[in-house]
Amino acid sequence: SFNLRNRSFLKELDFTTAEWRYLLRLAAELKTAKYSGTEVPRLAGKNIALIFEKTSTRTRCAFEVAAHDQGAHVTFLDPGSTQLGHKESIADTARVLGRFYDGLEYRGFGQQNVEALAKYSGVPVWNGLSTEWHPTQTLCDILTMREHTVKHDNEIAFAFLGDAENNVGNSLLIGGAMMGMDVRMVAPDGRWNHDDVVKEARRIAEQTGARITQTANVTEGVAGVDFLYTDVWLSMGEPKEQWDERIALLRPYQINMAMVRATGNPAVRVMHCLPAFHDRRTKVGEEIFEHTGLDALEITDEVFESPYSIVFDQAENRMHTIKAVMVATLGA
Ligand code: CP
Ligand code: NVA
Repeated sequence: SFNLRNRSFLKELDFTTAEWRYLLRLAAELKTAKYSGTEVPRLAGKNIALIFEKTSTRTRCAFEVAAHDQGAHVTFLDPGSTQLGHKESIADTARVLGRFYDGLEYRGFGQQNVEALAKYSGVPVWNGLSTEWHPTQTLCDILTMREHTVKHDNEIAFAFLGDAENNVGNSLLIGGAMMGMDVRMVAPDGRWNHDDVVKEARRIAEQTGARITQTANVTEGVAGVDFLYTDVWLSMGEPKEQWDERIALLRPYQINMAMVRATGNPAVRVMHCLPAFHDRRTKVGEEIFEHTGLDALEITDEVFESPYSIVFDQAENRMHTIKAVMVATLGA
């Protein structure tokens, strides 16, 4: 049996593969319990702070609803509303919040910040996205893959398309390696994961039997996969001056119907962590599409709205998996 109490979740490798499997089982159990109205609150009396230095819809709401379902109380702190980063260091903030709260979620920039929060607060810290990693997203993604295939983890093949050298790309590469999957990182030269992340994934693959492919060739990369996955081409905090160059570089990696067909798998499913630039119904989208003449970036509206897409099942699972992480590390 597993005891993850008082542990932080800052990156994939904070837990072993066996501990990931336990978290995935727990998430599935909590999901079933919520649906059947038999959920037992295991976080009663706990106080949790949700600290965001970047915007969020899914992560923030997932933590809030999961905490509420489990009987905990949350405080939401947005970028403008604390002394953090302006008048007070992470180390000092951590030592204060650690006296008030039983657990802290943090979304920010460099990974060293969330690491410092964990080091100085003395309570479990959950990384709600850093520049380098998005581990709660990966836990959600693996649960979602499991729900949409009859295959075992080590038989699942997925291709990550596009901006691989980023939080979601890094996390899926390491997470997929830990689960023994067939992992294809399909990206242009210049947006590949850093060598040290790839080396780490290959080292893990030797233990788990995962297959790791890094290629710029879409046809080769997507052949036979069970899942196509992409992330936004314009991540939070990316300077606007680089947008045009980024979009030009990533264009061949857009998930569109031609790519869906190129998998050769009629049962292929398409995933996206969201938010996605697939139509003009957003302010930033409108501006980019006007300026570039494109009508979608990383995924076309046709695919996004098609039966291939499981993006909203995936989004729902953020809540069930984040709940599992909090219950496992903080629960009675
Ligand atoms: N996928 C994800 O982290 O979404 P938010 O930025 O809305 O939290
Ligand atoms: N790579 C994206 C992920 C959003 C969930 C970003 O950092 O903005």
